Amino acid sequence: MRDVAVIGIGCTKFGEKWESSFRDIFVEAGALALEDAQLSGEKIDAMYVGNMSAGRFIGQEHIGALIADYAGMATRHIPSTRVEAACASGGLAFRQAVIAVASGMEDIVVAAGVEKMTDVESDESTDTLTGAADREWEGFMGATFPGLYAMIAQDYIHKYHMTREQLAQVAVKNHYNGARNPIAQFQNEITLDTVMKSTMVADPLRLFDCSPVTDGAAAVIVAPFERGREFTDTPIKVLASAQASDTIALHDRRDISTLDASVAAGQRAFKMAHLTQKDIDMVEVHDCFSIAEICAIEDLGFCRKGEAGKFTADGETALGGKIPVNTSGGLKACGHPVGATGIKQVCEIVQQLRGTAGKRQIDGAKIGMTHNVGGTGATVAVHILGRV
Ligand code: COA
Repeated sequence: MRDVAVIGIGCTKFGEKWESSFRDIFVEAGALALEDAQLSGEKIDAMYVGNMSAGRFIGQEHIGALIADYAGMATRHIPSTRVEAACASGGLAFRQAVIAVASGMEDIVVAAGVEKMTDVESDESTDTLTGAADREWEGFMGATFPGLYAMIAQDYIHKYHMTREQLAQVAVKNHYNGARNPIAQFQNEITLDTVMKSTMVADPLRLFDCSPVTDGAAAVIVAPFERGREFTDTPIKVLASAQASDTIALHDRRDISTLDASVAAGQRAFKMAHLTQKDIDMVEVHDCFSIAEICAIEDLGFCRKGEAGKFTADGETALGGKIPVNTSGGLKACGHPVGATGIKQVCEIVQQLRGTAGKRQIDGAKIGMTHNVGGTGATVAVHILGRV
């Protein structure tokens, strides 16, 4: 396999983007990534686009072709492929691009993610997202995503006695980081009180324990590492790419408050990169709900099982803590356009490694990790990136 580098990144602002269409936001992110890599579109050999559910959200399928067309690539007939794995669509699109370059099949490849979720009413977006769970055994029985993660939270709190305040601290920390990220959907700091007094969504998860419904797109460009300096002074090396799966329904799991696919993908990534948790300077984890960040920190091995609540409340995951988690604001504050999230995570880590993350910069950052989850953990993608 060849070594692979990220040579360009681009991300739209996340939020409710009623003024722009699905294709507009994709083109915006792609153009930003090309500009960042100082590349013209003619140099692109292939594209992989993460998208969960454009069919339900905007009534459009055949996303690979649509994107190639509106990115001006259709008449060059480059391969353009949609990748779908629910909320892990972006992470898997990135992995496909990395595999394409590593294998020698392609040279300059775009990995992108895009979702336009706010053009439908809340009940429809909730139902669409339920398609990431087991429709027959969970969705048709009335489960929603907040409901499923609330079950994980109940189980976790019952087993490990995490306090409500410790759980709320995840949201407080991520809003603090989001307030320092110009692309974040929510750029306001909040207090524990804001979380604890917000509307109940699915007990014990309140409004501020949930990621929002979001429009947004992100794109990165990958190339062989040895060619990286043709495009940028700071090519960021992909040190590991790992993926794992698990049962789609929560009730079939060995333990619902441990995401075994996160454990497996994390272990594979560390093994591939010949690194351990101590080597990671910051990690973007999939905090679709506050409890998801608690589980992720433990499943990836940054603290022991049952201790992530205290670890978070003690500030170990904050900017300046032992392992800063979700410096972008995470899904909670930066927003969660489901197909785009995995790519945005890569953009954030690349910014940190380049030293261009502004007010949320981790000093001297050299190695970062991304963790992107589909459904309640049936698909997980983990990547490790380094400035070498
Ligand atoms: N965090 C903070 N504020 C939020 C928010 C969130 N997650 N979601 C909505 N808001 C705010 C809105 O900005 C709005 O504020 P305003 O009145 O000042 O403009 C207000 O709350 C009401 O927004 P609305 O869109 O009507 O909320 P809603 O009740 O329809 O939706 C949730 C709230 C939590 C149900 C929805 O955001 C949701 O379903 N989130 C989970 C998404 C999900 O499951 N993703 C996949 C995970 S794997």
